[in-house]
Amino acid sequence: MQGDSAAVNQTTDCDTKAFLLDNPYGFIEDLRLVNRPHQKITKDDRELYIGLMSGTSMDALDAVLADFRQDKPVVVGSVSEPLPSRLRTQLLSLCHPGDNELERLCRADLEWARLAATVVKKLLNDSETPACLVRAIGSHGQTIRHLPALGTSIQTGDPNLIAEQTGIATVADFRRRDMAAGGEGAPLAPAFHEAMFRQPSLSRVLVNIGGIANITVLPGAQERPVTGFDTGPGNTLLDGWCFRHKRLPYDAGGNWAATATPDAALLQALLSDPFFALSPPRSTGREYFHLGWLDAALARIGKEGLAAATVQATLVELTACTLAQAIETYAPDCQQVYLCGGGVFNHRLVARIRARLPGCHIADTGALGLDPRWVEATAFAWLARRACLGQPGNLPAVTNATGFRVLGGVYPGRHPCP
Ligand SMILES: Nc1ncnc2c1ncn2[C@@H]1O[C@H](COP(=O)(O)OP(=O)(O)O)[C@@H](O)[C@H]1O
Ligand SMILES: [Mg+2]
Repeated sequence: MQGDSAAVNQTTDCDTKAFLLDNPYGFIEDLRLVNRPHQKITKDDRELYIGLMSGTSMDALDAVLADFRQDKPVVVGSVSEPLPSRLRTQLLSLCHPGDNELERLCRADLEWARLAATVVKKLLNDSETPACLVRAIGSHGQTIRHLPALGTSIQTGDPNLIAEQTGIATVADFRRRDMAAGGEGAPLAPAFHEAMFRQPSLSRVLVNIGGIANITVLPGAQERPVTGFDTGPGNTLLDGWCFRHKRLPYDAGGNWAATATPDAALLQALLSDPFFALSPPRSTGREYFHLGWLDAALARIGKEGLAAATVQATLVELTACTLAQAIETYAPDCQQVYLCGGGVFNHRLVARIRARLPGCHIADTGALGLDPRWVEATAFAWLARRACLGQPGNLPAVTNATGFRVLGGVYPGRHPCP
């Protein structure tokens, strides 16, 4: 690893006791020693984890370096690396059935992992942090199929390769243990949202607007459980439609959508999809909400010729409306809504959410100290830490699992576990 010793001025021999983790499972006593058993490390009392996230938008691989020394994690470094278009195309094609999937899956699995390792090295280099100080990486991987009805979900990004190339223990495959316990395997961020953002006597909702949008309801009354679920499309249809008509990856600022008025008949047709009437727990992905889904609705109402900008405006309305309806139904006493995810930069969308929730204070998570771009990646750093400490990462009230579970498998750093 570059920078391992360059950034280290004073080193002392590893003091094992100083770094013992409170690990009831006892499978790893000190991940820093597992990562670099023979290496001298700095006297550094930070508790560092890395989170890696690439969501349904498939726009970029986001990485954060977070310090967990205090009550709440603090992001001390971040990188967002756009997915190379060839890899993105491969991954997109794997979201739907096709020829020779297994071999294409294997290739994408390795390519995503190589990119992840490169991003981690860049993150460490930028933040002048030697790899041996990082206790673990939490790698979400890239979802290519999320099939809760079958009880499985596939994320590519071989954690063996990430651990090998970075030397850092890597936690991955977070969703399937929850699914093995009968859960949806999603959303997983609510437990982190609760730890980070819940406030006694204030009723808050966290809204993550990624490719798919999801909410976490954080009741003010401590005895009420945290709930959360996918509300439906966030940016994924907006991005897809914008690319089809403008050859642009997204509608910057929502400016194109803002030039048109939504079509009421199309909005009604889209809202009539049974997904929006399902009671939580519910989760979804781009295998359900894709342009074919939109095209079918346009054909059903005989409006294939609708102006492209009108469709874009209607898709903004769909995201805003389904979010607002979910909040009104499942958090009727909501006082504050905090937004995160790339959708916060779609000003048209945020304006429509505000218009539909006039009684709520609406801001992004930056107002609570966490940049809205990094919430999801920080959640996976947090989940990695939970796994390393043998603590559960799911909320059964959210996923419908039969109980709390430690999520993810741990892939040791360069040297195998003793
Ligand atoms: N300036 C912007 N204007 C409008 N939309 C934006 C902007 N920046 C990012 N986005 C939207 O945010 C998406 C990425 O959000 P992200 O939270 O990373 O989603 P995911 O978790 O699905 O990857 C982009 O695909 C795009 O739709
Ligand atoms: Mg993203």
